[in-house]
Amino acid sequence: MTRHLITSALPYINGVKHLGNLVGSMLPADVYARFLRLQGEDVLFICATDEHGTPAELAALEEGLDVAEYCRRQHAVQRDLGERFGLSWQHFGRSSSEQNKELTQHFARRLEEEGFIEERVTEQVYSIDDGRFLPDRYIIGTCPHCGYEAARGDQCENCTRLLEPTELIEPRSAVSGSTNLEVRESRHLFLRQSVLADEVRAWIGQQKDWPVLVTSIAYKWLDEGLHDRGITRDLAWGVPVPDRAGFENKVFYVWFDAPIEYIAATKEWADLDLDQQDLDQQEWKSWWYEADDVEYTQFMAKDNIPFHTVSFPCTLIGSREPWKLASYIKGFNWLTYYGGKFSTSRGIGVFMNDALELLPADYWRYFLMANAPESSDSSFTWEAFAGAVNKDLADTFGNFVNRCLTFTQRSVGAEVPAGGEDGDVERAFVADLSERVRAYSEHLADKQFRKATAQLRAIWATGNAYWEQTEPWKAVKTDANRAAVIMRTGVNLVRLYAVLASPIIPESAGRVLDAVAPGVAVRWPDDVGAELQALAPGSGFAVPEVLFRKLTDDDLAAWAERFGGAEEAKSA
Ligand code: 2FM
Ligand code: ZN
Repeated sequence: MTRHLITSALPYINGVKHLGNLVGSMLPADVYARFLRLQGEDVLFICATDEHGTPAELAALEEGLDVAEYCRRQHAVQRDLGERFGLSWQHFGRSSSEQNKELTQHFARRLEEEGFIEERVTEQVYSIDDGRFLPDRYIIGTCPHCGYEAARGDQCENCTRLLEPTELIEPRSAVSGSTNLEVRESRHLFLRQSVLADEVRAWIGQQKDWPVLVTSIAYKWLDEGLHDRGITRDLAWGVPVPDRAGFENKVFYVWFDAPIEYIAATKEWADLDLDQQDLDQQEWKSWWYEADDVEYTQFMAKDNIPFHTVSFPCTLIGSREPWKLASYIKGFNWLTYYGGKFSTSRGIGVFMNDALELLPADYWRYFLMANAPESSDSSFTWEAFAGAVNKDLADTFGNFVNRCLTFTQRSVGAEVPAGGEDGDVERAFVADLSERVRAYSEHLADKQFRKATAQLRAIWATGNAYWEQTEPWKAVKTDANRAAVIMRTGVNLVRLYAVLASPIIPESAGRVLDAVAPGVAVRWPDDVGAELQALAPGSGFAVPEVLFRKLTDDDLAAWAERFGGAEEAKSA
């Protein structure tokens, strides 16, 4: 049986992540993992913090902390926020782990043994005022390709092209803004990606069903001619370069060790379980090495695509060992804040901690999946957010749960009523719903989250339409058997709707399931007709508290004031 390995791009350790980070990687990975688990699949969902490199060093410096201590604290913060957002990873690791050090050094050795590493003298930007070499992303300047003025030395955020810092026009230090920069010589290791380019192209060529966003970025890079890539840096914080004189003060480049952490985090997970559950010591490896039974899906935003379609595959392929390559890469465009960029440095947008302070995770999860930036960028606005919460969650799902259960409880008591038999209305309803559930499942399996969420909303709406069409408040006065059929269908629909919703809004779905089917194992429906008989006559239920509160104009005004609205985003 196929096993499913799922990873989401590893969030940088510095700073709390914003909704744009969440929607482009961790959240869809979680929804997909939950969906597969409900289908009874064997799933391993792994994430971790990406801890090396200058961003961590600088952030630690700002906070007056040793970088290792800074990372330890920030990892705990991010893990806690992720858990509170319902992210159901089996392990949330750390790229600064011992396991990642070992594996990163292993890959470097293998690449060297296979002739894919070359030592070269490089010219590197040194900031005289900062007294240090500047890593690529800490040199800012104008992109030579598109003219974007805030391009970083490793990549232009605007046109996604990878850059060398020396290509930037009018470069300046991101640390101090100083333009007092000079180029100095430094020895570095290079991964000979140019030699591996044909193999990477052949691998991309096999991926017929990947999103165009992903393959087009990969081809753009391959077509430009794959450059050899420096994989070491003059820094103290990172994985040390082993066995090489003159490299004692250098570490691997963060983008070399970060994707290897996908593998290392799996080992961290297994190492933990070894103590706890006495798992086979090699279990971690079975997910990654000669893992022909594993379907491996990666989730990421578009700026990460080059590293996952080209750089990381070069590391894996070049090792000449049978490591698992991605079976599918799900890439995302940007979520904007009123059409502008979410920005960690400028504090623009909504961050995970702010979000949870305002409302429970499911409100955000639902909006983000309904508006996932899949085929193009999408925009977060408070107005759209309130629309999704009020119309879909409160008026459609919440209202259906409440009206059905409350009405049944008032009419016949808090249990599924007996009597009557399904009629033509129910048969037609089941046929329609079966088709919708099939489409919904297919969208989730295809990782089409917008379409899936739209179908879920439509499925909820059919429940309200059924209730209005069958008018149980009239039937209950005239035909007890007919009323029983409608209420029985309604309560079963409540359960089914919660099961279907649970990958996207797990906490709310769990509350509904606790009320109507406590302690019953949840699994994905394959026969809607049978699902609507699952709660047999006589089975008791409770009416849950109101599931979703409606957002008011006052809420929106207060939040737009606190976070900035359309005007602020435009002027940023
Ligand atoms: O863009 C980012 O947030 C990176 N930290 C993603 C790393 S993904 C993986 F390769 F580790
Ligand atoms: Zn550019």
